Amino acid sequence: APHDVQALVETAATLAREAGALVHDGRPDTVQVHATKSSPVDVVTAMDLASEALLRRRLAELRPGDGILGEEQGYEPGTTGVTWVVDPIDGTVNYLYGLSSWSVSVAAVVGEHGAPLDVAPGPRTWTVLAGAVHAPVEGRTFLAGRGLGATRDGVPLRANDARPLDRCLVGTGFGYLVERRRAQAAVVAELLPLVRDIRRLGSAALDLCAVASGTLDLYYERGLQPWDLAAGALVAQEAGAVVTGLRGRPADQEMTVAGPRGAVEPLVAFLEAKGADTTA
Ligand code: IPD
Repeated sequence: APHDVQALVETAATLAREAGALVHDGRPDTVQVHATKSSPVDVVTAMDLASEALLRRRLAELRPGDGILGEEQGYEPGTTGVTWVVDPIDGTVNYLYGLSSWSVSVAAVVGEHGAPLDVAPGPRTWTVLAGAVHAPVEGRTFLAGRGLGATRDGVPLRANDARPLDRCLVGTGFGYLVERRRAQAAVVAELLPLVRDIRRLGSAALDLCAVASGTLDLYYERGLQPWDLAAGALVAQEAGAVVTGLRGRPADQEMTVAGPRGAVEPLVAFLEAKGADTTA
């Protein structure tokens, strides 16, 4: 039977809001980000684990039999064909420092022909049916259902029209490994003179939602994991943006580029020419 996309969107929203509230309320007012002991990292790890545990527990109640793939606790296959791809805190460094740009990302995906999800690295063969990205501090919820459009707090979203690169505000992000950061910095150094400006907001899911709402023109990042990408990519697409990889590939961990088609094309050409998807 076809899946009820609107029902999946509502479940995604419920889950993202509940986990978001838990994470928001659980952050101590005084996090010592520079404490030499492990405490600041523990705050993030503890809340990541608690958030994912809540998501898993609530899913088992609301949608027994669905699978789940989460950042912290991996893949648990289901029997219904629907798998939930969840990031319990996207933007953990912002969360740690008390910056507002972090989110809980929840997506409902189906594998090819209802097959179990292929969770190996590489091109994704999944289809995202529904996504919710909830930012508790900013008080925003971005929702999308495949074919149903995208909204922010109930208001329909539309990505910006394409404009020349030198008038584009471009979001990006960096991985955590030093070699990769070196390569990413080299790409940014060459891109910066070509665009209006660059932002590093710190939550890939919210970057994709920013493209959907026109608060960024473009976004690109290398090294995204499926839980960073799944919900936000659908929000961006349902707002009229293109979400793609390089060299004709779909968006995946090699590269994700999002924006209006006419602006994505020159950015993709630039990133391909720089080999931005093949460096460390
Ligand atoms: C990170 C954020 C960040 C992006 C990193 C991600 P996390 O997710 O989305 O913006 O640049 O690539 O790993 O670790 O906070 O869930």
